[in-house]
Amino acid sequence: MGFLFNSDAARGAVFRQIFARELPDLEFYHCSENIDSDKVRYLLTWNVPDDVSRYRNLEVLFSIGAGVDQFKPEIIPDHVKVVRMVEDGIIRMMQEYVVLGVLALHREMLAYREQQRRAMWQALTSPQTAERRVGFLGLGMLAHAAIDRLKPFGFPLAAWSRSKKLVEGVTCFHGEDQLAGFLMETDILVCLLPLTEQTRGILNARLFSFLPTGARLLHVGRGPQLDQAALIEALDGGRLAAAILDVTEPEPLPQGHALWSHPKVMITPHIASVTQPHTAALSVIENIRRHRAGKSPIGLVDRTRGY
Ligand code: NDP
Ligand code: OXD
Repeated sequence: MGFLFNSDAARGAVFRQIFARELPDLEFYHCSENIDSDKVRYLLTWNVPDDVSRYRNLEVLFSIGAGVDQFKPEIIPDHVKVVRMVEDGIIRMMQEYVVLGVLALHREMLAYREQQRRAMWQALTSPQTAERRVGFLGLGMLAHAAIDRLKPFGFPLAAWSRSKKLVEGVTCFHGEDQLAGFLMETDILVCLLPLTEQTRGILNARLFSFLPTGARLLHVGRGPQLDQAALIEALDGGRLAAAILDVTEPEPLPQGHALWSHPKVMITPHIASVTQPHTAALSVIENIRRHRAGKSPIGLVDRTRGY
């Protein structure tokens, strides 16, 4: 029985080496090889292959990323466990990106970029961190990690999740009923929600209308969560002062799309965090060991919730 790595050859080579050392009894296949599909017990992939049902002995489907929204649930057999990527590399990179983005929004970096374009030398006033409230949509693995790194700066911190949470130093909100109250007290909104039917289009005109005038958005969840027209309207009307988008729909945006050249928008090409093969291989191996021992894998997806 074996493990099938269905992604790029470079990361596959790192996985192969670590698997040979840590799990020598498990056969390792790369998708470029000819394989006996009956031998595949574990599959690591970004997209689920359309013919996934040919892996009749598949037990665990690992996502190579933290998100699983790209998986088509209807083609994954019911008995197969779906596991998202929980690994130190993704966590560290997201911490860096969120701190970078929040500080850039706090210290008016997008406005200064625009001033530079116009050869303008002009100081802008910004409040102290204690007066800039940062709120997270989603309080899962990555939001927790980002919040830990933000704490020393002294921003008042809040978060909104599906279920009730208690986190030291963070004002926690949950559920639809508490969303507006959370937004009313958020100056920099960080979206770290998974994409599900409930969160698709959540960053819309109604949501923006609850934010204080001049609020800012850092979007690192998924492109389809954002209503782009509503964002442009909120930026042009002054409701929002700036937005940093790491994710868009589609990716990339078409040439000439209004967001590319919007003076209050900065776009990065979905690089907030990227799975790092050395740490990811160890975390997948740990999960295979847990699975073999009859324990639940870390990052097991609740297939009814979709994340
Ligand atoms: P988790 O599953 O650990 O956390 C998800 C959080 O979102 C939880 O707090 C959950 O609430 C909350 N949530 C889900 N649905 C709702 C809802 N309908 N209403 C309110 N809260 C909700 O995910 P991660 O932190 O690991 O990752 C989050 C997302 O970040 C990924 O799914 C992916 O889309 C994105 N991502 C982006 C990357 C990038 O490079 N841009 C890289 C990696 C991830 P509860 O706690 O109550 O369940
Ligand atoms: C992920 C991503 O889900 O890169 O890991 O977006």
